[in-house]
Amino acid sequence: MKLGELLKSEDWKKEKHVPVIEAPDSVKGGETFEIKVSVGKEVSHPNTTEHHIRFVQIFYKPEGGKSAYQLANCEFTAHGESTEGANEGPAYTHHAATVSVQLKQPGTLIAMSLCNIHGLWESFREIKVG
Ligand SMILES: [Fe+2]
Repeated sequence: MKLGELLKSEDWKKEKHVPVIEAPDSVKGGETFEIKVSVGKEVSHPNTTEHHIRFVQIFYKPEGGKSAYQLANCEFTAHGESTEGANEGPAYTHHAATVSVQLKQPGTLIAMSLCNIHGLWESFREIKVG
């Protein structure tokens, strides 16, 4: 068994679990820019106590590099829990996050999301760094 065997991937326009990576196609080396990762951009995913997105992690693999570097770990921790019962709570964290990063080399951005019921999902986006 390998972790990769559990990572599902699909077209994010059709599959609600796939993380969507929004970032510039090209950035300048060493310049700060934003990456937005969200789940359910086209087909919305539930956000309830019973069924929700727990986290999105963002990784970066430099072109020609041997391993990936973790850029961010975004946990979505409120899903309507409360002492009154499921979905009666006052807070819900939406499954979207924006992080600021700097890169020195071109490579691939990788996002991984976890649904508490439907498991791990991944997506990729190439980024040029000049
Ligand atoms: Fe799900």
